[in-house]
Amino acid sequence: MNFELRRFELADAAAQKGDALIVLVPKAFQPGDTALGQLIAGAIKSGDLETKAGKLLQLYKVDGVSCTRLVLAGCDQGSSRQVRQAVAAATGVLKSAAVKRVVLCFGWGAPADAVHAAVMAAADASYVYTTSKSKPEGRTLTQWVIGVADMVAARPSFDHAVAAVHGVEFAKEWGNRPANYATPTQLAEAARSLAKAPQIGCEVLGPRQVEKLGMGAFMAVARGSEEELRFIVLRYSGAAKSVAPTVLVGKGISFDTGGISIKPAGEMDEMKFDMCGAASVLGVFRALGELKPKINVIGLIPSCENMPDGRAVKPGDVVTSMSGQTVEILNTDAEGRLILCDALTYAERFHPAAVIDIATLTGACVIALGAVRSGLFSTADTLAAELQAAGEAVQDLCWRMPLDDDYAEGLKSNFADVANVGGRPAGSVTAAKFLQRFAEKFPWAHLDIAGTAWKGGAAKGATGRPVPLLLKYLLEQANKAAATAPARKTAGPRKSA
Ligand code: BES
Ligand code: MN
Ligand code: ZN
Repeated sequence: MNFELRRFELADAAAQKGDALIVLVPKAFQPGDTALGQLIAGAIKSGDLETKAGKLLQLYKVDGVSCTRLVLAGCDQGSSRQVRQAVAAATGVLKSAAVKRVVLCFGWGAPADAVHAAVMAAADASYVYTTSKSKPEGRTLTQWVIGVADMVAARPSFDHAVAAVHGVEFAKEWGNRPANYATPTQLAEAARSLAKAPQIGCEVLGPRQVEKLGMGAFMAVARGSEEELRFIVLRYSGAAKSVAPTVLVGKGISFDTGGISIKPAGEMDEMKFDMCGAASVLGVFRALGELKPKINVIGLIPSCENMPDGRAVKPGDVVTSMSGQTVEILNTDAEGRLILCDALTYAERFHPAAVIDIATLTGACVIALGAVRSGLFSTADTLAAELQAAGEAVQDLCWRMPLDDDYAEGLKSNFADVANVGGRPAGSVTAAKFLQRFAEKFPWAHLDIAGTAWKGGAAKGATGRPVPLLLKYLLEQANKAAATAPARKTAGPRKSA
């Protein structure tokens, strides 16, 4: 899909060519003296158009309006959330028609974050998955023209949003693919394809190299599958080598049957989404390659299937992790933490500024926070606050959860240094406490995206979250670095004091 930023306001919107014109109408709408402005003011006055976010009025072949269809979308106060609701609703009604080119216009002097929200929502609501369909009916709404009053002011957030869309769609594509279209090997190929961007490098380790590294916990999970494991290492180099990188670690279980502690059949298909953490890391790299911020980022993806088999790891087996800590695997369905713990130990070699892992880790997190906010766990208050703020800014929300040591009580084992499960209460917290043991050497945050990475039911599909949150966080790190960097030397001799 293609987004174009153009300089026009409501006064010129009627002249824009396209299949549909969407006008976002705030509560405090100022009609001005154009015919379109007067039409909108009249529709509000008569009660045919409500300005509550999500309310629509659809019109067809309106005199003086070049676009065939006109959708007026209530936008209330014009907050990011309301812009998203309005654009999603308007896109939804246009999706069925023969609409390719959509012109979007703000009915007020929309700020930069409204532009970001509009672009993200337009892409989200018009997305169509096609890969494993025999007669793909692709996306119809493919061309978007976004009108703003001030191109210079809107440009950075527009570019950021377009790159975020590409990242989100990359993450959705890999998340949505069935497990037989997204094996660990295929995920590694997807990562390699990202390395076409000049700042991105990719290295893929297989079973022999992973064994040599001593990743006994990761290997234990992979044992039950015919599919070979992969450990993917992505590097984005946007700053000097001396700049400490941020490391992103994504859970890449391409399918989670539970292993010998097998899951019930109902909705087990949704465990193809158990690599959405990995997909979000791929999506972020996709966007980084486009935006080229001046930071360094490492992406680590441990990827395998969790299957029951004659060779599969059994409840009670003890394995030795790369850190040297031994782990009693009491439940083979708590496999995410087993592959992540070795990836966290691997992260130490980069002397990272921060490590953020992203994982569809626990059903308990779905119970705690539902589909609205991802669970955020962190040993570093600044990092936690920055991640939370990034999420708020781009409406990809998370919420901080506790890490009190008392929550680790249940992880005690009589036969190893630690057990991989700690009972049902506070299940998302005990999972995080397990990971924390492997993340003591750097500032660390863990995002449990079990409730937010995909939707079930009729709208079943990956959401691409938390790509927007992570990307916003990383761009803010780049801004921070630019603000504190020493002033560049100017030509000629410097005055000495
Ligand atoms: N991938 C699942 C977590 C999950 C379950 C995410 C359902 C979304 C929906 C994870 O590997 C898992 O099975 N976790 C177990 C842990 C338990 C055995 C301690 C869970 O949450 O039930
Ligand atoms: Mn599991
Ligand atoms: Zn899992």
